[in-house]
Amino acid sequence: MSARSVAAGLLLMPLLGASSAAIADDGVDRLTASQAKYILGCGGCHGIDGVSNSRLVPDLRDQVGFFFNSQAGRDYLVRVPNVAFYSTSDQDLTDILNFMVFQLGRASIPAGAKPYANAEVARLRKRPLNETSLVDYRRQLIESLSVSHAAPGGIYAYGSVDYQKK
Ligand code: HEC
Repeated sequence: MSARSVAAGLLLMPLLGASSAAIADDGVDRLTASQAKYILGCGGCHGIDGVSNSRLVPDLRDQVGFFFNSQAGRDYLVRVPNVAFYSTSDQDLTDILNFMVFQLGRASIPAGAKPYANAEVARLRKRPLNETSLVDYRRQLIESLSVSHAAPGGIYAYGSVDYQKK
């Protein structure tokens, strides 16, 4: 190695060292790709970490996984119109839904729950729940699920005015 290339290497080393240290330790939290997709498409209403106005928009955090206790509940999460009609690819929607259930809904997922598969999401989003009362559909789903599974308390917050009228 010539003296010149050794000198060039020595000059570059601290520069490279400094820049990689800056990337690793700049105090800024990085988003995962799925998290970024969720925030872009859903976070405006549901909140960055899955909680916003719980009475008007259902909480997702530590709650949404409850629906994984039945096949109908699992299907429901994809068939909600805001989800089914979200204009993105099946793969992106699958990533968003798995982020939503397994990261945001973490504490509420039943043991052994399997992530959504791309083909499953593609199939279910073709059957959106847009010709039914969503509030009634959701209430019936929760009632039938809570016979055998303890529902997270916050699940009743959404549409709570309707629940009180009952
Ligand atoms: C414009 C606001 C808005 C956006 C954007 C939105 N949602 Fe929702 N979401 C709601 C509301 C309001 C409900 C309650 C049912 C309804 O009226 O659609 C809901 C219901 C849901 C439910 C049912 C939860 C439950 O407890 O019953 C899920 C799951 C869901 N949304 C996921 C998503 C995902 C994933 C996205 C992004 C792809 C998304 N939403 C985008 C407002 C929104």
